[in-house]
Amino acid sequence: MEINPTYIRDFELGLNPQYPEKSKIPANIVGFGEISSIFKIKPYNDWVFKRLPLFHHEAEASVYIEKYNQYTKYLKQAGLKLPPDDTFVIKSKKVILYLAQKAIDKSDLCQNKLHTLPEKEALEMIGTIFIDIKKIADFNENNQDIILSIDGQVSNWALVNNDLFYFDTSTPLFKINGTEQMNPELLLNSTPKALRWIIRKFFLQEVMDRYYDLRLIYIDLIANLYKEQKSDFIKPAVYLANELLLESSQKITEAEVEKYYKNDKLIWQLFLSFRKIDRWYSNHILRKQYEFILPGNIKR
Ligand SMILES: Nc1ncnc2c1ncn2[C@@H]1O[C@H](COP(=O)(O)OP(=O)(O)O)[C@@H](O)[C@H]1O
Ligand SMILES: [Mg+2]
Repeated sequence: MEINPTYIRDFELGLNPQYPEKSKIPANIVGFGEISSIFKIKPYNDWVFKRLPLFHHEAEASVYIEKYNQYTKYLKQAGLKLPPDDTFVIKSKKVILYLAQKAIDKSDLCQNKLHTLPEKEALEMIGTIFIDIKKIADFNENNQDIILSIDGQVSNWALVNNDLFYFDTSTPLFKINGTEQMNPELLLNSTPKALRWIIRKFFLQEVMDRYYDLRLIYIDLIANLYKEQKSDFIKPAVYLANELLLESSQKITEAEVEKYYKNDKLIWQLFLSFRKIDRWYSNHILRKQYEFILPGNIKR
């Protein structure tokens, strides 16, 4: 079904971000991202909508769309399959970008197939993901002026019949002649204001850099198998990744994966708890303050 931009606008204006199912046009949360919330909105059952509340001005959102279109075009040129997509900018008090993407069946998400497929097939699936990630590294080598990043974690892929799709395209990190095309400050807009300097100083560069390095992308994917409760896949996954990392100095060890996982877990736990504190603070403390400052609101 064709998406009607006015309907998406009405959705945004009536959205209850904390309880999307209670919005004027009710929606279901499909996934919680680090920077976007992902909704299904009736009647568009064959689409998902990634809502990015990152922008102060419409111009910023337009640049983002331009970068997003460039990035997805290059991913396809590199040989990846992406689901069909569309973009909508809604301007109300804030400027919100909606990235629409054809919905994938839950049972086709690689994250789920990790648990439902027989072990041998699940490992083959991980192997095909490694090969697709390698296509990005090869593209980068052959196009010195354009360097693409990719977040290769299993949760970003779908296997539909025998076709692998990459769908986590909403953060278009790529470099042209060495210059990062994505403004990292936009990513910070999704984080609590009071904590931005910490994130900027300690996390941002590291998190951004890791998705450009084939070896680190592999380590990141493998380490995530702990979180997916599939630690028995780590050993064979390390083996599969090492088959594609040709230089012996590049080979990944299990010990390294474990160390990476512990470090990464700490980063995200900190980040998430900061966000929860911030949300609680703005919902409870700031709201109270607001009512306090405006007594007219209280006397009802
Ligand atoms: N096109 C889609 N169809 C179905 N589910 C999706 C789709 N895109 C994302 N999801 C779900 O939402 C989760 C997060 O989406 P993703 O695009 O990876 O964003 P993030 O950058 O937040 O990780 C996915 O792991 C998946 O469960
Ligand atoms: Mg993702």
